[in-house]
Amino acid sequence: MVRLPVGIPVVALLASVAAFGPGLMPPSASRFTSPLPVVSDTLVSPPVLVNVSRVPHTVEVNLTAGPSRIALLPGHVTDAFAYNGSVPGPTLDVREGDKVIIHFTNNLAEKTTIHWHGLHIPADMDGSPLRPVGAGKRYDYVFTIPKGTAGTYWYHPHPDVRTGYQIAKGLYGGIIVRDANDPLPATLPEKLLILSDNRFHPDGSPDMAAPGTSQGQADEENGREGNVLFVNGQVMPILPIRSGEVQRWRVINVAAARIYRLAIPGQTMLHVGGDGGLFERPVDVKDFLLANSERVELLVKGAAAPGARSVLQTLPYDRYDFHTRPTDWETPRDLLTLQYSDLPATTPVVIPQTLRHVAALDTSHVSARREIILSQGLINGKMMNMHRVDVTSRLNTIEIWQIENVVTMDHPFHLHGFQFQVLDRDGVPEPFVSWKDVVNVKKHETVRFAVRFDDFPGQWMFHCHILDHEDHGMMGILEVRPPLPRGKK
Ligand code: C2O
Ligand code: CU
Repeated sequence: MVRLPVGIPVVALLASVAAFGPGLMPPSASRFTSPLPVVSDTLVSPPVLVNVSRVPHTVEVNLTAGPSRIALLPGHVTDAFAYNGSVPGPTLDVREGDKVIIHFTNNLAEKTTIHWHGLHIPADMDGSPLRPVGAGKRYDYVFTIPKGTAGTYWYHPHPDVRTGYQIAKGLYGGIIVRDANDPLPATLPEKLLILSDNRFHPDGSPDMAAPGTSQGQADEENGREGNVLFVNGQVMPILPIRSGEVQRWRVINVAAARIYRLAIPGQTMLHVGGDGGLFERPVDVKDFLLANSERVELLVKGAAAPGARSVLQTLPYDRYDFHTRPTDWETPRDLLTLQYSDLPATTPVVIPQTLRHVAALDTSHVSARREIILSQGLINGKMMNMHRVDVTSRLNTIEIWQIENVVTMDHPFHLHGFQFQVLDRDGVPEPFVSWKDVVNVKKHETVRFAVRFDDFPGQWMFHCHILDHEDHGMMGILEVRPPLPRGKK
């Protein structure tokens, strides 16, 4: 987490600069060689948005996007953007069934929106590029959190063509939706881990690479990947853990393009949930992919001895076209240190074997089968047009969407407003049913998912969540219309 330097003693600032150490090469020289700056602060959680309402089951908060002087890169205060002065932005922490009122103020000198990524809410509250909030303007986002949607989500700006820029400048935050009857033990210490990366000029301002330069072209193709990796805005923070303790982690990938392959070498993790909440059953994993904008819930057990250290890493994963693949893509990168206390091991908490029932959508009578072709920068051969509807669907119907990636790099596909269930990937059935709002479609892969338009007519975006691709128009519009009158087809 990075906050305004106001009130931070100069000594502390200097200390963090010093701790950054000689390992830090000028970032411009290290675009593809990424030395790890060593900073050893304890992991800090973003602040939580303060509920100003006294009405039961109502969460009313104030959220402002504005320019800010912040050290995005530790030790280098620079001009950035922030929600309520904080990067990551404050966490929206709500419960299923809550009415949420967000009084949003845009203090930026440009238009923006807030998209509540993954939430099932009305179209005019979705913060899509169709509903920009002008510079200096306000907008009240008001919606109710549907039952059954407890999980981890996030919010970010979504203005036409500027999403990547605004997020790189510091605008992103987490959302936690809680279930009153959460099946996981309430005693598990919970951690929110927001993963991001960024690339900087030597003065610590985000390096956005001009279009037309070779870096600009690589960014357009690969998506802008940063060489400095953050957890909650911190570089290599320390997360204390006790031997035997089980922690519940909610992990969000807010990076523009990086796909993480998360692992803690030497142990496994229990994968208990994804984009749309908990799975039916926990799955033991050694490592797993977290594509940009995906979320995951993990149970991490303190598997090492008292006093030990282990590391959360992202392992090599080749999502790239070989022409623009970074030369260091095969190097694992450290994200966070797990530091074991000296206390003797505690007895691990027992985790239920069944978490909840996730019913598969009934695909025996689907209303439509869609084919979506992803090529480089295009969807079905077209670029985004804000005045064109690409897919028209009806309320109360179930459809199957087939997403086919015809090029040699991965494209994570995101649908606004509606959670879906992946059916198969290249014909291989998904091992279990889960709710998702983004699915990484690998090079030359075809993924099919089922989706039900149970509510909320209106226009919804679908797009590649590599922000550079999205901003360059790799996006389309779905219009969900009221049901046809009976008897008509
Ligand atoms: Cu996370 Cu259309 O976005
Ligand atoms: Cu893409």
